[in-house]
Amino acid sequence: MAKLIDGKLISAQIKDEVKAEVSKLKESGVTVSLAVIQVGADPASSVYVRNKKKACEYCGIESLSYELPEETTEEELLDLIRELNKRADCNGILVQLPLPKHINEERILDEISPLKDVDGFHPVNVGCLSIGKPGFVSCTPAGVIELIKRSGYEIAGKECVVIGRSNIVGKPMAMLLLKENGTVTVTHSKTADLKAVTKRADILVVAIGKPKMIDASYVKDGAVVIDVGIHRDADNKLCGDVDFESVEPVAEAITPVPGGVGPMTIAMLMKNCLTSVELQK
Ligand code: GUN
Repeated sequence: MAKLIDGKLISAQIKDEVKAEVSKLKESGVTVSLAVIQVGADPASSVYVRNKKKACEYCGIESLSYELPEETTEEELLDLIRELNKRADCNGILVQLPLPKHINEERILDEISPLKDVDGFHPVNVGCLSIGKPGFVSCTPAGVIELIKRSGYEIAGKECVVIGRSNIVGKPMAMLLLKENGTVTVTHSKTADLKAVTKRADILVVAIGKPKMIDASYVKDGAVVIDVGIHRDADNKLCGDVDFESVEPVAEAITPVPGGVGPMTIAMLMKNCLTSVELQK
């Protein structure tokens, strides 16, 4: 039986640590605040945004909420970001994705001050990560590192394989594992013999976007398996990119879906709000 890596528990610990830090800052007269911007009313985005604001409330972080209509223009959104970039009472800026099709996402994300970019999506922060300078790190991959470390698994010297090369998960994931001195391989849809590579992994991070694709035949005995995917299966039940029933008997440890990586993203966002105060000093 694999050890279950409990993202709910670990994310709760992190939020409690943030809450304690925020409270200390408050005593010294510093408030922490996050602007959360949603354009339109995509139902999944509304759930994420609500959960982000709830986490802020729990941690004592002030949330400045902007729920803008679907028809908001790119210029209007850029103006709001420019205003928030200047405001001293706003430490972090989060623009919930996806944006409506008439808005150029890249242009919006590039406008956010790198010092307030709590999502870690700005090219300056992506660059800082790749050369080991302080900056914001994308929340999901940062959460994966916390899951591995806080579950007691060493990364240094281990064969780490990442499946997926997205800008939000795969690429920063590889950079973070490298920073922890893992030996890192990134695989993707064009990888010639995926199984041959994943079978080498001591730590396997799966962010491929295909429900239950990774079964035991991809996994080395005793591997630590982290599943970043989230989907609904044929029975409308939540599942990941990993076929849990198949992989669980061979893995040393595995994250469940739900309750694995998912809750970590918001916990790391809260941590990044603290980082924003540090970076803005
Ligand atoms: N939409 C889905 N995931 C994310 C995320 O991590 N950050 C933002 N801003 N939007 C998202």
